[in-house]
Amino acid sequence: MHVIKTIEEMRLFCGGCQKEGLSVGLVPTMGALHQGHISLVKKAVIENQVAVVSIFVNPIQFNNTTDLTHYPRTLDADLALLGKAGCKVVFAPSEEEMYADKPMLSIHFGLLEQVMEGAFRPGHFSGVGVVVAKLFAIIQPTNAYFGQKDLQQFLVIQQLVKDLSFPVTLHRCAIVREEDGLAMSSRNTRLTKKNRPLAAKIFESLQLAERLLPEKGIDFTKEEVRAFLAQQKELTLEYFEIADGNTLVSQIEYKVGKITALCIVVYLDGVRLIDNVLLE
Ligand code: PAF
Repeated sequence: MHVIKTIEEMRLFCGGCQKEGLSVGLVPTMGALHQGHISLVKKAVIENQVAVVSIFVNPIQFNNTTDLTHYPRTLDADLALLGKAGCKVVFAPSEEEMYADKPMLSIHFGLLEQVMEGAFRPGHFSGVGVVVAKLFAIIQPTNAYFGQKDLQQFLVIQQLVKDLSFPVTLHRCAIVREEDGLAMSSRNTRLTKKNRPLAAKIFESLQLAERLLPEKGIDFTKEEVRAFLAQQKELTLEYFEIADGNTLVSQIEYKVGKITALCIVVYLDGVRLIDNVLLE
């Protein structure tokens, strides 16, 4: 495993790949890897001549310092998982390396960032945009892989690539779930053993919405989802939105055949859990 810590070395390595005409697949991560990440890594390994995984807990995308402090940092375990998945190159810079000075740049994504995650986590997408743009500029990947769990993040990055003409093909990869349906996330390890089974209710509520929506419409479906989750006092719903799958504009009427996103955030044990289902 080749673990690269500096921007200069990473540039040299990727420049070498380009000279040799090798395709580079990038999987950007913040570490604390799980099988959701590994599914992206395996895809990158299969579809490219060189697969690079970046591991960097990006401080400028956290609007909550407790969340940043508690974010798990598990580099040795991550490297072991990546080795098994066939990844040979990891970019793991320090915070000083990535941001010798706090970046002055901020990026706005218009309507796309005014809803859901953007509304509840001010500044989050600017931080994501800056770090992803920086990774694309350093690594210049042919392909980049992101999970659908962070659907809004994917759409924001799609906009970034379009607006800045990055020559990279983006891949939105399916959500990987635990046996009971909970979307895999680095945050899941922070759930208590006692309450962990309740987390399955989140995906159950999305499945309920998927069933109700075509016949009962948006308002009724939203009410039922709220009522379903309210049965468990440990679960606190932050938002449940039924939105256009491309723009994330909240829908007032459901149209069969239109790409629709059912997006949810629930708190359990103080942990913020996000999930979605795309009706395509
Ligand atoms: O999804 C994540 O893990 C992060 O937001 C990303 C894309 C690696 C940027 O820090």
